[in-house]
Amino acid sequence: MALLFLSPDDPADLWRAELQARMPGLDVRIWPQVGDPAEIDIALVWRPPPGELARYPNLRAILSLAAGTDGLVADPDLPDVPIARMVDPSLTRTMTEYVLLAVLRHHREFDCFERAQRAREWAYAFPPQAADRRVGIMGLGELGSAAARALVAQGFQVLGWSRTPKMLDGVLSYPGRSELHAFLHRTDILVCLLPLTADTVGILDAAIFAELPHGACVINVARGQHLVEGDLLQALDSGHLGGATLDVFREEPLPQGSPLWDHPKVRVTPHVASYSVPSTAADGVAANIRRVSAGEPLLHQVDRVRGY
Ligand SMILES: NC(=O)c1ccc[n+]([C@@H]2O[C@H](COP(=O)([O-])OP(=O)(O)OC[C@H]3O[C@@H](n4cnc5c(N)ncnc54)[C@H](OP(=O)(O)O)[C@@H]3O)[C@@H](O)[C@H]2O)c1
Repeated sequence: MALLFLSPDDPADLWRAELQARMPGLDVRIWPQVGDPAEIDIALVWRPPPGELARYPNLRAILSLAAGTDGLVADPDLPDVPIARMVDPSLTRTMTEYVLLAVLRHHREFDCFERAQRAREWAYAFPPQAADRRVGIMGLGELGSAAARALVAQGFQVLGWSRTPKMLDGVLSYPGRSELHAFLHRTDILVCLLPLTADTVGILDAAIFAELPHGACVINVARGQHLVEGDLLQALDSGHLGGATLDVFREEPLPQGSPLWDHPKVRVTPHVASYSVPSTAADGVAANIRRVSAGEPLLHQVDRVRGY
């Protein structure tokens, strides 16, 4: 079994070592030193150049190093083989940490204290208790449901919007477009953890922001293309929205000239909300390689029609 490893951002040698520790005979070829493309059975990838995967005529599966596979399914030349997305405890834990941190920052109104510190002001402010703060999560999948559980444990009121109904302890489920209005009206801090699909592209726009209560905050940790940046800036500048934490952007790296960099109500991080480490993520990848070898369906297989 020969595996192509292709990622500009992941530690290739570490991945090879972790995979071979689990599967000693595995032939791992690190792009671009691939040898004969016809020998490649499986591709383990993050952001391959468009058209690249079409070069491997005997490819049997594509395993994504990321949870979101929007970049892959957008490739018109992608071979018609099963795709699995990344599901991994380290990815889930780091996303949960990030969401907790960002929600707590907005909840405890740290922007105000940082402004006061810069002005050398001793400014008292006592935000509502967590039980009186409503956090709405768009997307209650692997990552959204873990973040929801952590927020429930902190005592927040937690709501979740998803395509299908969910039963999660302490989380109010709002399924489908028909429930979006009610969900938004009851959300003080909005967290986007949706996959990027034809249904969700540009979803964080002026119409959505207008439905949120005055002073609400927005956290986007999903994909930059979910957000209409101009609409966000307008809603922040008008005073309707209280703040935003953004980890992902339409253009990455965020261009030097973007007004988001120094907007007083915006916190920017460089697409680091969550990350997986090979020492844990290799378990799931090895399990899927064995499944390909046995002719079994992949774990966490992407539904190409649904887009995630
Ligand atoms: N910033 C980062 O570092 C980073 C890292 C990892 C992932 N991400 C992003 O996070 C996303 C979510 O990852 P995940 O593993 O949690 O995905 P997932 O397990 O596939 O969950 C997706 C969730 O979104 C819901 N959903 C999809 N389309 C919808 C629609 N049209 N309307 C309402 N709900 C919809 C799904 O509803 P159903 O359950 O009802 O189908 C599901 O609850 C990824 O796709 C990626 O874009 C970002």
